Amino acid sequence: MLAIVGEKEAVEAVRMDDFPIAWEPLPPMIGSKAALAETAFTLHDFAPDNVLTRGRVERGDVEAGFAQAAHVASGSFETGFVEHAYIEPEAGYAKRIGDTIHVFACTQAPYMDRDEVARVIGLPLESVRIIPSACGGGFGGKLDVSLQPMLAVAAWVLDRPVRCVFSRIESMISSTKRHPSSIQAKAACDAEGRLVAYAMEGDFDTGAYSSWGPTVAGRVPVHATGPYKVPHVRNLSRAVYTNGPPSGAFRGFGVPQAALAQESLFDDLAAAAGIDRLEFRLLNAIRAGDTTPCGQTLEASAGLAESLEALKPHWERLLAEAAAFNAGESRTRRGVGIGCMWYGIGNTGMSNPSTMRVTLSQDGRLTFWNGAVDIGQGSTTVLTQIAADALGLPVAQFDLVIGDTALTFDAGKTSASRQTFVSGRASEAAAAALRAEILRLTNAGPTARLSLEGMTMTVEENGVVARIDLAALPAKPDGTVLEGIGSFDPPTVPLDGMGQGVPYATYGFAAQIASLDVDLDLGTIKLNRIVAAHDVGRAINPMLVEGQIHGGIAQGIGLALMEEYLPGRTENLHDYLIPTAGDVPDIDIILVEDPEPLGPSGAKGIGEPALVPTAPAILGAIRHATGVTPRQVPVLPHRLWELLREKEGRS
Ligand code: MOS
Repeated sequence: MLAIVGEKEAVEAVRMDDFPIAWEPLPPMIGSKAALAETAFTLHDFAPDNVLTRGRVERGDVEAGFAQAAHVASGSFETGFVEHAYIEPEAGYAKRIGDTIHVFACTQAPYMDRDEVARVIGLPLESVRIIPSACGGGFGGKLDVSLQPMLAVAAWVLDRPVRCVFSRIESMISSTKRHPSSIQAKAACDAEGRLVAYAMEGDFDTGAYSSWGPTVAGRVPVHATGPYKVPHVRNLSRAVYTNGPPSGAFRGFGVPQAALAQESLFDDLAAAAGIDRLEFRLLNAIRAGDTTPCGQTLEASAGLAESLEALKPHWERLLAEAAAFNAGESRTRRGVGIGCMWYGIGNTGMSNPSTMRVTLSQDGRLTFWNGAVDIGQGSTTVLTQIAADALGLPVAQFDLVIGDTALTFDAGKTSASRQTFVSGRASEAAAAALRAEILRLTNAGPTARLSLEGMTMTVEENGVVARIDLAALPAKPDGTVLEGIGSFDPPTVPLDGMGQGVPYATYGFAAQIASLDVDLDLGTIKLNRIVAAHDVGRAINPMLVEGQIHGGIAQGIGLALMEEYLPGRTENLHDYLIPTAGDVPDIDIILVEDPEPLGPSGAKGIGEPALVPTAPAILGAIRHATGVTPRQVPVLPHRLWELLREKEGRS
């Protein structure tokens, strides 16, 4: 990385063409061959020694499984680069204060930023303070440090405050993208439609830096079979270095790409077995008590079957509507598709703890010290709700300190759909610990009601009232008189060489239906409706859960139909199209609450699960409408048009 630092006018006057840097542009080697065919770049195959990392999950005897199958389906699938396109581009400032450096910037991971800045400047960790700004979306793109170390180095060396705001184009050029993928997959079921075997091999183009490539390669094989019972499995993934743009974390860590392949093949199997697509999924749905391809037995909270049952009336209605519509003579055909998903909450087979703190001060202030960055999804609200419930005081009474590494404990990254589940449990534990202190001081039992007015905490139980004069309690230097600290680390078991273990303590489940119309002459698509059923364990804040589902569906529509980042060509929001309100149809949401015993009030996560099933449902609907099977996303009009003309040629 290189930064030019100066007064605003001086920096803006620099012409990059005149800048004395010599470089030699090399043709990129890019994962999505199909996308590459449409660019000016020359295709280079991966060099065999370019593999960054591999992932593997293997269980049963996959060859024997295929040998005993009644129906087999297979195919190759391609996805391209996708841009996160969060509302605000990367921005921040850094300030040197004596021998410490403060960095204020948008981020999903303040403690990771602290560690990186300390490493880059060569400072002890305590000398770096990261203060997250409000964040208009991250989606994984703000899980990589971008301008933070540059700001810190510049402010450190110059001993002056330094700020930087990326333009949209700078943001798009420099930030990571969703990994382009090439996936070969094969699936098989018996004569009754029961899945017997699944095998996949996926290459994920990770670009010139590792970024989150290892996480993608690790997460994909665990999820690639989908939320189904499959006895014989072999899922293999590779993250491959290329000299294209760096790929990194993006909502789902490779799982949306793998789900496209798997759900498409399961539609093939349902057709071959003569079973309705929803019924096929219901027959094979993984349930509590079943064992995953990693050998993990799901103990509770596996609400896929319940989600599918809830979708049934919508499925039947939309199928009937499509049949009625298609009975007419029109160049427009209507189709309905279904996609399912599961998603492990938290990091894969490794510790990812969170610690929270709730305090009461001498002057009666109740403070929630919450290190979880809210990236727009509402974790601040949800975690405060959880803390308020566990303490027994209203949300409105809390002062909030969010994400500041000098003031809060490490809550881990706002990533992997983990904050409601992991930090939620930590928040619950912290608030419960403070409540226990209060009850202990007043000899009150667990059902006591608390109220806080001024400097007095009142504790009432069965008509007996006790009061704590907070001002009279011994205080720490910062004024704290009572505190509760709570931690949670989801229980997992690292995966062995065959991918066996307990990668996640819990999983989100979902099924979505899409109804759409295809113009057979133009290859254009208009979405009519999406119905989404999500098992979130418990919706702590239903409006925020719905917000995540709306946003995830919008991004899923982009992945399926619109979004393709072509390096050098679509580096702005004029050439790179993301869905607007005009592209998003009516969405019906059904919240399924199959409680997770480990979660706060039974809650799991929704961030990434919201996106994963949308594109598979849309691709299934395109096939239902047209009889052609898209295997490359986005299904841009010219690509669908070509498939339609090919089909005409065949018939
Ligand atoms: Mo995400 S891809 O866990 O920010």
